[in-house]
Amino acid sequence: MTGWEELIKACEKCQKCVLAKTRTNVVIGRGNINAPVMFVGEGPGEQEDKQGLPFVGAAGKLLDLLLDAMMFKKEDYYICNIVKCRPPGNRVPTDEEAESCLPYLRQQVRLTRPKIIVCLGSTAARFIIDRSARITNIHGQWFERKGFSIMPTFHPAALLRDESKKALMWEDVKKVKQRLNAI
Ligand code: URA
Repeated sequence: MTGWEELIKACEKCQKCVLAKTRTNVVIGRGNINAPVMFVGEGPGEQEDKQGLPFVGAAGKLLDLLLDAMMFKKEDYYICNIVKCRPPGNRVPTDEEAESCLPYLRQQVRLTRPKIIVCLGSTAARFIIDRSARITNIHGQWFERKGFSIMPTFHPAALLRDESKKALMWEDVKKVKQRLNAI
């Protein structure tokens, strides 16, 4: 895989795991492909699978509201997921599914070269930071890896279930905005 076109083609014809059998669309990413900040979620849901774009359902709308309220500009960020195909019923992707999909995420990171990577929820934190990561324990802390500043925070869907996480996520994303402003 060399550039974006190759990456997209490879994802579209990918049959590396069972998720390929039930997907409507492969969901690769949205936003600025040269952005300084990359947000990484878990995997597409129903709306994302239908539209072929990440974070366009209820959780995505909440994420957009948060980023707008924090004065992120559209060109500041790129949004993608650990797995590019919807797990049926929105179940958590298995380790095998995530691992077979990770080369695509690594290529996205190589092409975008973000300064900051934000892990949205436990699945992203587990596969980007540490397999034993628990978001409640590590959210809001910076991890420095391979020249990237990595910030784990809650998945916006968790905020839809538990309002009390909103203030915590706000503080975490504020740290991201502050670091972005300092770049
Ligand atoms: N949840 C995710 O993790 N990713 C999406 O794209 C949508 C919902």
